[in-house]
Amino acid sequence: MKKLQSLFIMIALFVSLFVSCNQKQTSGGDQQMNAFINDLMGKMTLDEKLGQLNLPASGDIITGAGSNNNIVDKIKEGKVGGLFNIKSAEKIHAVQQIAVEQSRLKIPLIFGMDVIHGYQTVFPIPLGMSCSWDMALIEKSARIAAQEASADGICWTFSPMVDIARDPRWGRFSEGSGEDTYLGSQIARAMVKGYQGDDLRKNNTIMACVKHFALYGAAEAGRDYNTTDMSRIRMYNEYLPPYKAALDAGAGSIMASFNEIDGIPATGNKWLLTDLLRKDWGFNGFVVTDYTGILEMVDHGMGNLKEVSALALKAGVDMDMVADGFLGTLKQSLNEGKVTQQEIDQACRRILEAKYQLGLFEDPYRYCDVNRAKSEVFTPENRQVAREIAVQTFVLLKNDNQVLPLQDKKTIALVGPLADNRENMPGTWSVAGDFGKSVSLLDGLKNALGDEASILYAMGTNVVSDPELDARISIFGKPTKWDNRSQKEMVAEAVAAARKSDVVIAAVGESAEMSGEASSRSNIDLPENQKELLAALLATGKPVVMVLFTGRPLTISWEKANVPAILNVWFAGTEAGNAIADVLLGKVNPSGKLSATFPQNVGQIPLYYNHKNTGRPLAEGKWFSKFRSNYLDVSNDPLFPFGFGLSYTSFDYKNLKLSNPELTINGELKVSVDLTNSGNYDGAEVVQLYIRDMVGSVTRPVKELKGFQKIFLKKGETRTVEFALTEKDLKFYNSELKLVSEPGDFKVFVGTSSANTLEAGFVLK
Ligand code: BGC
Repeated sequence: MKKLQSLFIMIALFVSLFVSCNQKQTSGGDQQMNAFINDLMGKMTLDEKLGQLNLPASGDIITGAGSNNNIVDKIKEGKVGGLFNIKSAEKIHAVQQIAVEQSRLKIPLIFGMDVIHGYQTVFPIPLGMSCSWDMALIEKSARIAAQEASADGICWTFSPMVDIARDPRWGRFSEGSGEDTYLGSQIARAMVKGYQGDDLRKNNTIMACVKHFALYGAAEAGRDYNTTDMSRIRMYNEYLPPYKAALDAGAGSIMASFNEIDGIPATGNKWLLTDLLRKDWGFNGFVVTDYTGILEMVDHGMGNLKEVSALALKAGVDMDMVADGFLGTLKQSLNEGKVTQQEIDQACRRILEAKYQLGLFEDPYRYCDVNRAKSEVFTPENRQVAREIAVQTFVLLKNDNQVLPLQDKKTIALVGPLADNRENMPGTWSVAGDFGKSVSLLDGLKNALGDEASILYAMGTNVVSDPELDARISIFGKPTKWDNRSQKEMVAEAVAAARKSDVVIAAVGESAEMSGEASSRSNIDLPENQKELLAALLATGKPVVMVLFTGRPLTISWEKANVPAILNVWFAGTEAGNAIADVLLGKVNPSGKLSATFPQNVGQIPLYYNHKNTGRPLAEGKWFSKFRSNYLDVSNDPLFPFGFGLSYTSFDYKNLKLSNPELTINGELKVSVDLTNSGNYDGAEVVQLYIRDMVGSVTRPVKELKGFQKIFLKKGETRTVEFALTEKDLKFYNSELKLVSEPGDFKVFVGTSSANTLEAGFVLK
């Protein structure tokens, strides 16, 4: 009898161990959630399970070749798992009601949106945000975005985009955090924390979706959606860490990218979506494709829709965005034995888990409280934060003779196609923004100056001179405000305004839609007509301040050589005009630093600070040497290096000290420097620490960012800034893709940009 009892106990233990292992694999071990989902899935038909995997587009924007017909019927039939880019708590409430009242199993929908840099209160574009180097502010922007979006029905955002980008021809450079792995990883973490907070169930947090997994930023020739081809060692060391950082911070979902990796589109790439993501990284959330990602595998040459849908499921995709491949073909593939029930169940379970974690089963209307939407969206407080963040993202590229800040100017000529253009202030991907409510630079200067100065406005020129190109860059409701007058007439008007003024502010650059998705450019100069305007303004002899709007690094060599002051403002969001006025007028001292290199010309691309040395490096300070790695017609130098950005004050770096000439495996090395604000204004400086591993089993970059601190100093103030380095900071993936550090000589650099640092050395023992 006793024997039988213990046998039963053994069996029970074994069964519970087996069940819990299985559940842990699929769910992260939440017993209650598993019990709930097991029960629900037990009631689901195959069609209903496939329905959960289906994410059609609905609402205001369609970016691909998908259709969104018959959605309501499909919702009633349980054939829709979620919807995206519908705006407003009322609409979402109404759609959710159909799902939970009229479908058989009453499973709530998940509502997603591209809340990329703010919801209705729009913050600067991500590239701009990254130039603040301020993680607390970046997290705060995501927190506010989540607060607003969740008040208006959204519980899932397709953000952060963490794709490393080194080719500014690529329009989506604007959506990421620039070229650097370390900075990008920190930002990825901050964004996820901001969106998800400490509890996804709360009605003011939303689920993050890291994108675009993976390597989307490495499209050949900067042409969107183009092929990528990259060694594993580069992937592991340079491109993958930001995705991993976002997942380690708890991001609940991830989006497969459009591009191929090792010859297989990411959407159908098992190595990527299962071996790396699930097995190596232990990711428990769900994988969604990008817009029509499955269907696009047909054009990639991977088979017909049925075949590529099966390929995607088997690779590890859980949710099909817009392609209708899962819903339309997986049943047949199951009957033919091409996919398994277990694979379908697995994907369905992951979607249901996400809904459970968001609390949608408890209360499907949790995120559509019309009262919250009225009181928490686009509030004066949120706009104030947007303004405070925007000023931190501007990068002062040049300021000869202290043209800026503007002081005691009685008459200001404000010219340029972006001076009076509210619609273009939010920049790319501002789906929920009310563009007309943004503050233009003209508005901002008027708000700041009132009667203190008179502003003479003239448009001066169009954004581009070719009307066909103009039409292509105004597709998404951000008109460039095309003016039919001749270039000559418009420039003459601007020059006349300049002649009557003490200073000229030229608001030039790209319009919002010249960067972003499907906005690659082969020439990243300022459009010729805008250069002509600048030249005419400079010829008046008046001081000219160029306020540069852009979603990517531009090749502005001529402007750098000729215009005395350049303030790069990216696209600064709802409060752009007020924020730019704050900086131009000296209320705020600029402190942004570039998160991406500005090349001199497109021929230098890709140009990034943490490159390898080559076997024939050009000697420092040299422009050209025969048989060295360089060009005949342009130096290797960037126009503006990574980490660069001026201030109205100046900062001196002295006394770089190391606590020890050696670092041991378990030890810590203190690196300190004395920073002095030696100029005439209070201000903040981003102190940057880089290392170089002098000898490795594989070649190592000439510099790698490993730390930064943003330090505010009053004028005249000195502070010792201290960093701590450990062996962990020196690790990299070796040729076996193992994360290792290797003993030997290292250099450490601390300074104001990647190209201007003090230097010391230590040995890793
Ligand atoms: C973009 C994604 C975006 C999706 C949904 C796609 O075209 O590549 O970044 O999240 O559309 O709008």
